Amino acid sequence: MAEEKKKLSVAEILAAARAEKAAKAAAEGAPAASEAVAEPAPPVPAAEKPQPAVKPTVAKPGAGAGKGGRMSVAEMMAAARAEKSKPAGEPATATPAATPIAAKPVAPKPVAKAEKPVKDEPMAPVEKETGSILAAARSGVKPGPMSKAEAAAKGVPLPKPAAPAKPKAYVPPMPQKPEYAKPKIKPAVTAESRRGFLEIMFGSMLALGFTCLALVGGLWTLGFARFMFPNILTEPPSRFKVGFPANFAPGQVETKFVAQFGVWIVNYEYQGQPEIYALRTVCTHLGCTPNWLEGEQKFKCPCHGSGFYKDGINFEGPAPRPLERYAIRVSDDGQLEVDKSKLFQEEIGQWVDPASYVVA
Ligand code: FES
Repeated sequence: MAEEKKKLSVAEILAAARAEKAAKAAAEGAPAASEAVAEPAPPVPAAEKPQPAVKPTVAKPGAGAGKGGRMSVAEMMAAARAEKSKPAGEPATATPAATPIAAKPVAPKPVAKAEKPVKDEPMAPVEKETGSILAAARSGVKPGPMSKAEAAAKGVPLPKPAAPAKPKAYVPPMPQKPEYAKPKIKPAVTAESRRGFLEIMFGSMLALGFTCLALVGGLWTLGFARFMFPNILTEPPSRFKVGFPANFAPGQVETKFVAQFGVWIVNYEYQGQPEIYALRTVCTHLGCTPNWLEGEQKFKCPCHGSGFYKDGINFEGPAPRPLERYAIRVSDDGQLEVDKSKLFQEEIGQWVDPASYVVA
């Protein structure tokens, strides 16, 4: 009975109608079908005319049933359309299409529903995913808006919702630059100022270059002149005449040739022999020039105090050896001639050489 009470779907109604039509055509022939089509019963909405409990086998004539108490195909279609167009919250009612089908036990179903009306449960609105249309078309499923549950049942992947846009970070406006930080605007360079600048730059540079060139040329000229005329020390000749022997008295020390020739002419004796000789005015210690001290009859060095006798032998101070002699001889004119190119040292016995003295 539960199946009988079950509401017939449109497909079932159509199938039953086709079966009934086929059975009728087989039993009565084609005119019955045409008659049923010719007299279609006006569709009666179930909501407007709720039917009381109807017997399952016989339908009342005049209540929309066709011949023989059975509904025609058109009536069944009208009843099905009315049932389909009924709102979801409207309580289910018995339709006349349920009764005419005597062949199938499902016909009494509307009667049962009429006896126990289904509670009008408000259906929650189903949200349709418009994105499922495209997804279903891609996956080969018949496209159409479907809910998430339908998409999950059909295995249609729904497009992922777009990620919420990130709020933009607030960037405060930059403070204005102070005057000293602003770039300084250079004055415009005009043609006149550029010309003056070039004149100053290149004019001064050329002047400086020519000045430097002149200075270098002058230095080169001076260097060349210095090369052509080098410093020449005017030294006295190594040989010079000091006068006749008679001009030197015995025991005399002549000092007038010290400044010019660096020599003392002495008329004295050496080893008991009177001689005239020329002593070199260089201390044998460190090269200072000793002084002749007439009062003390000795040569005294002012540097370290060395003392020499009149014949040139050292006797005091740090001087290690006697003074030295130059060569001396009597020239052709009878004058004494000193030759500074030859030196004679007493410590090695050179004072006995006749070239180192002239017999007085
Ligand atoms: Fe004459 Fe030293 S240089 S004593």
